Amino acid sequence: MNRAAPWGMRRLLNWIKEEYGDIPIYITENGVGLTNPKEEDTDRIFYHKTYINEALKAYRLDGVDLRGYVAWSLMDNFEWLNGYTVKFGLYHVDFNNTNRPRTARASARYYTEVITNNGMPLPKEDEFVYGSFPEGFIWSAASAAYQKNGIQKGAWRADGKGLSIWDTFSHTPLKIENNATGDVACDSYHKLAEDLVTLQNLGVSHYRFSISWSRILPDGTTRYINEAGLNYYVRLINALLAANIQPQVTIYHWDLPQALQDVGGWENETIVQRFKEYADVLFQRLGDKVKFWITLNEPFVIANQGYGYGTAAPGISSRPGTAPYIVGHNLIKAHAEAWHLYNDVYRTSQGGVISITISSDWAEPRDPSNQEDVEAARRYVQNQLPPKHPVWYLGVGAFKPLYQGMCVPCLISDHEWKLPSPYIPSSSQQFMGGWFAHPIFKNGDYNEVMKTRIRERSLAAGLSKSRREVKMKVSEASAGHLWATPKPEALGLSVSMYMQSGSPVHAVHELPEFTENEKKRINGTYDFFGFNHYTTVLAYNLNYPTANSSFDADRGVASITDRSWPDSGSYWLKITPFGFRRILNWLKEEYNDPPIYVTENGVSQREETDLNDTARIYYLRTYINEALKAVQDKVDLRGYTVWSAMDNFEWATGFSERFGLHFVNYSDPSLPRIPKASAKFYASVVRCNGFPDPATGPHACLQQPEVRQLAVQIWGTMQPLLGSQRSENSISTRTSTTLCPLLDAGPTISPVREQEVQFLGLMLSTTAAQTALNVLFSLMLLGVCGMAFLSYRYCKRSKQEKTQPSQLELSPVSSF
Ligand code: GAL
Repeated sequence: MNRAAPWGMRRLLNWIKEEYGDIPIYITENGVGLTNPKEEDTDRIFYHKTYINEALKAYRLDGVDLRGYVAWSLMDNFEWLNGYTVKFGLYHVDFNNTNRPRTARASARYYTEVITNNGMPLPKEDEFVYGSFPEGFIWSAASAAYQKNGIQKGAWRADGKGLSIWDTFSHTPLKIENNATGDVACDSYHKLAEDLVTLQNLGVSHYRFSISWSRILPDGTTRYINEAGLNYYVRLINALLAANIQPQVTIYHWDLPQALQDVGGWENETIVQRFKEYADVLFQRLGDKVKFWITLNEPFVIANQGYGYGTAAPGISSRPGTAPYIVGHNLIKAHAEAWHLYNDVYRTSQGGVISITISSDWAEPRDPSNQEDVEAARRYVQNQLPPKHPVWYLGVGAFKPLYQGMCVPCLISDHEWKLPSPYIPSSSQQFMGGWFAHPIFKNGDYNEVMKTRIRERSLAAGLSKSRREVKMKVSEASAGHLWATPKPEALGLSVSMYMQSGSPVHAVHELPEFTENEKKRINGTYDFFGFNHYTTVLAYNLNYPTANSSFDADRGVASITDRSWPDSGSYWLKITPFGFRRILNWLKEEYNDPPIYVTENGVSQREETDLNDTARIYYLRTYINEALKAVQDKVDLRGYTVWSAMDNFEWATGFSERFGLHFVNYSDPSLPRIPKASAKFYASVVRCNGFPDPATGPHACLQQPEVRQLAVQIWGTMQPLLGSQRSENSISTRTSTTLCPLLDAGPTISPVREQEVQFLGLMLSTTAAQTALNVLFSLMLLGVCGMAFLSYRYCKRSKQEKTQPSQLELSPVSSF
């Protein structure tokens, strides 16, 4: 199939209109040939969807006189030189059967829907709603230590910080895009005041940040507490409180002390006690001021990417069928121990809350009429029933207002916008969020689907429960110190394991089991549900070969995304606001209506240079609006946190993906934070506590707050002095964080393009013009001095000439 380029359809229709004088147009053929299409020909659905959508834009937006559309082809047929090898049909034809039976493909059903709706109406539930969040709703912004802070410049261990696994990982060649590291990142360790300004710009009431474990405990243990490191956090917390911003502290956001990794990291069960001791130090030393604790950020990512794929620190990928489960097991126990410690020892005196942050995408079945896909989506996160509308019909990109200037009024159906009840699932099988949420929020144990599938797959591989073989070389095992200390049993492995030096090691392939006591201890260790959410996928069943031993193989799900979903700067993140409301509703149903805090949500851009970040505004506006709808569905949503206040080190993609509401200019050593337009937008949502209906206005909160005069003056005075442009395409340093708490000042200015000015008849950049002006001024000064000097010499000389004769006259020797 040639690459689909649906935008060409709109352009061509417009061209015909212009070229031939607004004539009626009928699209008499449009379709795609596929070589071996399945009955679920999702590719064809995407093709027709995106092309018809462009045709609709030509009609609705551009006024093209479009009268009809014909899909090629109704059924597979003789495709000229390709014979019967290429198939264009919405209906499959069996050419091996003399009766030539026709079977409808998924694309036929999709096309029928388009015809029935005479287009692609925006489902009522996707429409924007006005309204406010409950009183006391928390608005926050999030960050993580390794992504922002930097270690001490030029000295890895200065100020007492120990190395973390992310220091090691990022310094390993080829692990991070462009070999970036977090050595400096946003240098937040030194730029506390600047960071505070970004938070004040957003007007948030809370700030979520994480503590770097190895900054407090350099070797991960309480043998030595690094006071300098602790002081940094004390200063940060004090500064936040002074600014009336409450801290939300994540105890662990992925940066394990390297010293602990050297003895197996999260695979070594002793980590549970280490983590508890570390948490104890934090409760003791910071707990009088911190009232909101998050034990772990996204255990799924720690286990699966850190110890399964190896795409995150510590980068272990050799035991994908075992390590993630062992790690997950220890993470759950560590969380539970920290929760109990706080609950038993600190809660009464300190009065805070503590829980865990779990991440999950939402998953829809790729083909809602296919039961296997429906079940795959359930497994992906947990989805009970097929949606009322097939997903390919929902959330059609072209009708989204505001996004990249596309704004197509659509054919709106008149049903209630409330979420139809079939979206709300109730039973449980889950692998992503559910892996961790089920034990903590439900019953202290893994969900049955996970347990059953992993058990069955192990058995199918021909291995008895007590003998699951996963070959691993001893060298790999000892490199991770995994098997040396402690004994396998202590690692939570419930089956035997053999280890012989120099020969393959037999490890288990099984989900570890909790003891009854552990289950009791884990169950209910939460005060709220901390939830990170970014995107939605389309899931379908995939049967991996039984020999494949990994989390993915156990889950048996593959996923794709709908081609009409808008992209972001991250390959995994498609802009799919509808999934946010659905998953919030699912959490409510699945976990018995817990108080939920969204602890991360946001979107990235690559090579972002324009401060007018409309795509991010679109994302935030629609996602926060879906959160509002969830509140109206009676989800107990207590807070929303945007990721992130400023651009930062985005793990394996380094600095290439920007998630910030403030632009960080990494090419300027002072790392200025410049507000993007989204900062201004988010600030207004925070001020208004939602989206007040303009029809009931005017609303004071929608007005921009008064700009601080002093800052404006400083800004005005400094502006010309700050332009040290390196080249046309480099980032200008003309804005400096300390000078711009002004939401009005920054966002409309591009950080890349400098203004051009006319200078002596030439068009020059302001910097070049400034330099030229300086040179000219110096030359003039030189000229003036030269002139003064010459005049002085001239005067002196003529004076001498005038006086000389009389002197001669008087001279006694003149007579010669
Ligand atoms: C989350 C993670 C954050 C941030 C964000 C954007 O999974 O907790 O640290 O990187 O994703 O990708």
